[in-house]
Amino acid sequence: MGNKYRLLPWIEETLTPLDFSSVLDAFSGSGSVSYLLKTMGKQVFSNDFLNFPMIISRAAVENSSVTVSREEVQLLCREASAPGVSTGNAGAAGSASPGDSASPGDSGGFIRRTFEGVFFNPEDLSFLDTITSRLPLLDNPHKQALVKSALIRSCVKKQPRGVFTISGDLSRYDDGRRDLKLSLAEHLSEQIEIYNGAVFDNRRENRAFCGSVFDFDYDAFKPDLVYMDPPYVPRSDDNCYIKRYHFLEGLSKNWEGEEILYNTKVKKIPKKYTPFSYRKDAVDAFDRMFAKFRESTLVLSYSSNGFPDLEVLTELMGRYKSRIEVKEKDHRYHFGTHDRVKRAKVSEYLIIGR
Ligand SMILES: C[S@@+](CC[C@H](N)C(=O)[O-])C[C@H]1O[C@@H](n2cnc3c(N)ncnc32)[C@H](O)[C@@H]1O
Repeated sequence: MGNKYRLLPWIEETLTPLDFSSVLDAFSGSGSVSYLLKTMGKQVFSNDFLNFPMIISRAAVENSSVTVSREEVQLLCREASAPGVSTGNAGAAGSASPGDSASPGDSGGFIRRTFEGVFFNPEDLSFLDTITSRLPLLDNPHKQALVKSALIRSCVKKQPRGVFTISGDLSRYDDGRRDLKLSLAEHLSEQIEIYNGAVFDNRRENRAFCGSVFDFDYDAFKPDLVYMDPPYVPRSDDNCYIKRYHFLEGLSKNWEGEEILYNTKVKKIPKKYTPFSYRKDAVDAFDRMFAKFRESTLVLSYSSNGFPDLEVLTELMGRYKSRIEVKEKDHRYHFGTHDRVKRAKVSEYLIIGR
C-alpha cells in the first residue's frame, strides 16, 4: 500500500550500520522488507497475521532454490487453456463453498460462481478455478507458494487500482493499459518468470509465519533485531487490509476456513481484529509489543500521519530501551485513480531502540 517499496533504499541504509544477523519482520505485508533483509544476508523470520503475505514470503524469502518450470505451469493450466473445454459450473444458482472443488483436475467452478459479475471476466474466473484445483499436483510447498504468489500478483495487476473494494462494470477505469488487457493466464506466465527470477539462496535458514505478532514464538527464534511496520489507525474504513485485499486472502487459501459474506457486494470475508487499527487499543498494543521484543534491537517504521504520535512512541519504546534514535525521511503517498491522484506529504520515521 502507498508505494512503500520506494523507502527500501533508505531502510537498507538505516539498517546497514546496525549489528544483527537474524531479524523478525513482524508485519511483512508485501514481503518487500523481508526480501530486502534476505538480500542483506540476514536470517529472516517473516510474519503476518494474514495468509497471503505469508505465502509471498514463503515463495520469495523462505524458498532458496525451488522454481516452477514451464511444463509445470502448462500442467496446471491445461484445462483452462484448451480451446472449447468448458470449466466450472458457471451460472449455478445459490451459494457455493470452496469444498465444491476439491480434487486436482476438478475445477468445480467455485470461484466463478461466487465472483462472476464482481471481479474479472468469466474466462479469468474459470482459469482461477482450474489452477487452484490443480495446484495439489505440485507436491512441493514452495512450488505451490510460488504459483500462488504469481497468481496473487496477476490478480492485483489485472484488477483496476489493484484493490478489491470496487466491482462490477469497471470500464471507467480502463485507460488502455496493457495490464488490464492481458488475461489472467497471460499475466500468470509472466509473473511466474518474475518470481522464478527472484528465488535465491542467502545461505541462511529463513522462515515464513502466519500469526499475530503477539503469538510469535520469540523464545524459540530470538531474532537479534525486530522490524515492526504495523498498520496505522485508519483515517477511514478504506484502509482496512481485509477490505482491500479480501479476494487475495481467500485465493491464497482457497477460501478454506473463511466465511464468505454473501450479502456484501464484493463477497467479502470478515475483517480480522488488530489492536493497531483502533485508537483506544493502539497505545497498549505498542507497549505490549515493545515489552515482548525488549531483548532485541527494535526498529519501528512509522509516519507523521499515524497514531499515536512520535513523542508517545519514543516514550513507550524508552520504557524498554536505553538508547532511542529517530531517523526521518520525507515521503509522498499516492491515493486514488490516475486522473485524480492526490498526494499526501508525510514524514516517515524509523525509530530505533537499543
Ligand atoms: C503496513 S503493512 C506492512 C507493510 C510491509 N512492511 C511491506 O513492505 O509491504 C501492515 C501489515 O500488518 C499486518 N498485521 C496487522 N495486524 C497484525 C498483527 N496483529 N499481527 C501480525 N500482522 C498484523 C497486516 O496484515 C499488514 O500486512
